[in-house]
Amino acid sequence: MKIAVCYYSRHHGNTAKVLEAMAEGREDVELFDVVGGGDFDPARYDVIGFASGIYFGKFHQSVLDFARRHFPAGGRTFFVFTGGAPSAKNSAAIRAAIADRAPQVLGQFFCKGYDTFGPFKLVGGVAKGRPNEADLRAARDFLDGLVV
Ligand SMILES: Cc1cc2nc3c(=O)[nH]c(=O)nc-3n(C[C@H](O)[C@H](O)[C@H](O)COP(=O)(O)O)c2cc1C
Repeated sequence: MKIAVCYYSRHHGNTAKVLEAMAEGREDVELFDVVGGGDFDPARYDVIGFASGIYFGKFHQSVLDFARRHFPAGGRTFFVFTGGAPSAKNSAAIRAAIADRAPQVLGQFFCKGYDTFGPFKLVGGVAKGRPNEADLRAARDFLDGLVV
């Protein structure tokens, strides 16, 4: 069983931190930065997850575009995201991006991520210190518990 997680994480590296915790010690998980260049071969994976910080209510455009380009028909997926004030609805756009492939969605994990966007910067940011150790543990548990 091979798992890829295709991600974008640029604001504070919050999402990457969550993914690194998820992947730690697992040889079946590969992390792929969608703006890092390099070739991605979906045929190499049994499950292709997508991950992002939340930007204006949704996954970053680069992940949405990448998913549209690479996600195979009938593929299995899951979603991981961080936001200053995230909610379950933040995966709506990534779900819509691959809806025509009839994906099997295994689940989603999200937690808070330090946010200094715009006016939040003036007050020292929101969700300071997140993701924290408890978030990272919960993230690991999520991936370990995925039925794949
Ligand atoms: C331009 C911009 C827009 C953002 N919009 C949202 C938003 O709509 N909802 C939210 O919860 N967080 C929002 N955030 C906060 C980020 O989602 C949060 O800091 C996230 O953890 C960043 O992930 P990253 O460090 O992996 O890129 C926004 C941040 C930026 C810079």
